[in-house]
Amino acid sequence: MQLFNSFNKYGLLAKLFHWITFIALIVQVPFGFYLVGLEFSDQRIELENFHILIGISIFYIVLARLIWKFLNPSPKGWRTFFKGQVLIAKINHFLLYVAIFAITISGILKKLYMGEILNFIFFKYGFEKDNFVLADAYYQVHIYANYLLLALVTLHIFAVIVHHFIFKEKILKKIT
Ligand code: HEM
Ligand code: HEM
Repeated sequence: MQLFNSFNKYGLLAKLFHWITFIALIVQVPFGFYLVGLEFSDQRIELENFHILIGISIFYIVLARLIWKFLNPSPKGWRTFFKGQVLIAKINHFLLYVAIFAITISGILKKLYMGEILNFIFFKYGFEKDNFVLADAYYQVHIYANYLLLALVTLHIFAVIVHHFIFKEKILKKIT
């Protein structure tokens, strides 16, 4: 199996990045919604710290993924079935990255503006002062960016299904 992307197939590293992010996100999104419904307790604080640890890991993984994409561009050999198809796919892919960054960065900023010290895995960091108005604004971004991500992933999976069953193109083979 080749490490680098070819003209019409993703390489090993790009595939790993894609599926690790997928697995992390299908755990993290429901986990986040579950978390907000919990009563305040030590267990809740522990779960929230775990949510933050996974979230910051996703941030690093997606950052590494983008650096790799820059060094090793995605396959260019698209089979097109209608005008504008490539543009729609590219916009969706771009917005998927935007949504993940918006979620992770807003989560980070929410906690920092709460005046807390955050564990960024490689180092710890906190602001000197808190600002609850900004903390709440970033929390709203955190929630709405999650809804955006859910909508984009739905569209993304819908496109895979359309390619498979209607266009009869085994598009999944590109990334598996
Ligand atoms: C891609 C990564 C992440 C996803 C998918 C995610 C998802 C979510 C979701 C769905 C919620 C529930 C929102 C609601 O309905 O109120 C939530 C809450 C929360 N998230 Fe994240 N999150 C991620 C990363 C982070 C990061 C990096 C941080 C902080 C460093 C963070 C901090 C929080 C906090 C503090 C809450 C609220 C818990 C509470 O106090 O009630 N999240 N997250
Ligand atoms: C959290 C869920 C997911 C996210 C965030 C996501 C994100 C992405 C992104 C950003 C790309 C573009 C990669 C690039 O070139 O930079 C991509 C490609 C792809 N994804 Fe996903 N994906 C998810 C789930 C899935 C699932 C469940 C499937 C299969 C049912 C899938 C199938 C594909 C395929 C086939 C491609 C290649 C598209 C092409 O280049 O023609 N993805 N995904």
